[in-house]
Amino acid sequence: MSTYSRSHLLRGLLFALVLLVPTVPAAGRIFQDKEKQPTGEDLFKKVWKPNKAEATDLGDGLGPMFNGISCIACHNQGGVGGGGDNIANVQILTVLPRQDSRRNFRLDPVALEMLFEQAVKLHPDFELQNSVILHRSSVLNEAYGNWLKSVFEFKSVAKTSGFLSNIKLEEERGRLLTETPIHRVKKGSARDRYTIQVSRRNTPSLFGVGIIDKISDQDILALESTQKETDGPVKGIASISDNGKVGKFGWRGEQSSVAQFTSQACAIELGLSNADHPQARIPLSQSRRSQQPRHDISKSEIKKLVDFVNSLDPIAVRPPKTNHESELFREGQEQFNSIGCAECHVQTVGIAQNVFSDFLLHDMGPELADASHSIMKKVKSFPKGNSQHHFEIKNPQRWQTPPLWGSALSAPYMHDGRANSFHDAILVHGGEAATSVDKYKNLKPFDRKLVLEFLQSLGDDSTGGNEELSPEVHGWSIPPKRSRRGRLVRKQP
Ligand code: HEC
Ligand code: HEC
Repeated sequence: MSTYSRSHLLRGLLFALVLLVPTVPAAGRIFQDKEKQPTGEDLFKKVWKPNKAEATDLGDGLGPMFNGISCIACHNQGGVGGGGDNIANVQILTVLPRQDSRRNFRLDPVALEMLFEQAVKLHPDFELQNSVILHRSSVLNEAYGNWLKSVFEFKSVAKTSGFLSNIKLEEERGRLLTETPIHRVKKGSARDRYTIQVSRRNTPSLFGVGIIDKISDQDILALESTQKETDGPVKGIASISDNGKVGKFGWRGEQSSVAQFTSQACAIELGLSNADHPQARIPLSQSRRSQQPRHDISKSEIKKLVDFVNSLDPIAVRPPKTNHESELFREGQEQFNSIGCAECHVQTVGIAQNVFSDFLLHDMGPELADASHSIMKKVKSFPKGNSQHHFEIKNPQRWQTPPLWGSALSAPYMHDGRANSFHDAILVHGGEAATSVDKYKNLKPFDRKLVLEFLQSLGDDSTGGNEELSPEVHGWSIPPKRSRRGRLVRKQP
């Protein structure tokens, strides 16, 4: 039995995972057969194990830090590559400086320098940014559990010890994953007080990302200019990723290509170090030295994985079966356009037809704010070997408009999965979208339903990735939720 399944820590989820591993025979068998090279889809479904890299280079396999044991563990709603339920959410640990008398975070360089000093003691990855991924699992199970306890000072846990406390810890973490969008704890002494917060990200669907990958930067920058020149509150800005290209992937548009996201997902979600991305470090180790082992997944395997993800078709629009349905669809879209949804959820961008996004970042108001990755520390070097830190503050309220194609299959919604239905998702829009939401609220009930039914029609569950996956395949014990589906019939006057 592996070391991690023996421990009681992180019991709930991991226990289910470990039990389920042997029930997925296909993935195991493929890789024993040295003759047969895994396809991209095999790699997407493959259940990885610690110390068993099957790549050409020999690394340390799954982990040491990981969020899932396969890509499909999270991307599974409506078939291989779909979105994920809240149980698959990824958690982010963020440190925030102490607040001033008006409860605003102190963002002066002295306060920030102090914050980063404290934060690095917590996790080596806090070197240059105020957020790190809070991995749900580690092969160093027990030690990691203790680290988590010390970071959170979980009150329920602190009072007890041993087995009971570990179950409580798991319960507490489960609650954070699915219930509270943001959980905050104050840390430090009065002088150097700071806050840590845990926030979460819902797993988006990958259906159609290959087409989004091909949208040109110019097409998105043109939308940015149009919004700038148009009167009204909607003023999206393009996210420019580290390589200078427009970011189209991730809730904040951090990455510009599926290839980049995939090598990062291998390293961060599964702990598979690769040529393009180092695997996540162990928080308890204070060593700043790189602990990178040899690669766990080869360049050619990553390429196959990327090709597979890029080949996933978008979910088609549900074709109306009758004239009546087609009329309702048209009216629904008219309402969607007239109340301003289409200003951000743009139907067609470049080659991506029916994508319903502008791929721009919008200020969505304080309700949706999340300060993760909002403070970056940069080092400015001067001649004569002098260097100085400066801090870049990003707007925590900005999110990239998500594509709406196929979203009927990928509830819950919003970056943290806080909305279970389209109606709830619309109501939590604020900021630049506030006017549009007011118009939605003022619609007659029937017209509102037309909008909701229109959104529902954007995911035809009789075509494309409609494969039902059993929990054995994706590993979680809770089956994914489907958004409710209702038929809309106009009452006779
Ligand atoms: C623990 C759950 C989890 C696992 C495992 C996982 N992902 Fe993801 N994936 C996510 C989440 C959450 C996001 C959104 C992240 C963000 O925006 O910050 C995401 C985003 C993506 C995106 C960008 C999609 C878009 O349109 O923005 C790609 C591509 C992707 N994942 C591919 C993969 C691949 C390939 C694997 C396996 C190597 C994988 N993921 C494993 C949860 C997961
Ligand atoms: C100012 C731009 C803007 C406008 C206007 C706007 N949205 Fe959005 N929409 C967004 C952004 C950005 C998000 C993601 C925010 C987040 O995750 O916190 C979003 C999320 C959504 C989602 C959830 C999608 C998912 O995959 O989680 C739905 C559904 C949606 N919008 C529908 C609508 C409808 C219907 C309207 C009109 C009433 C509308 N939106 C108006 C920008 C906008």
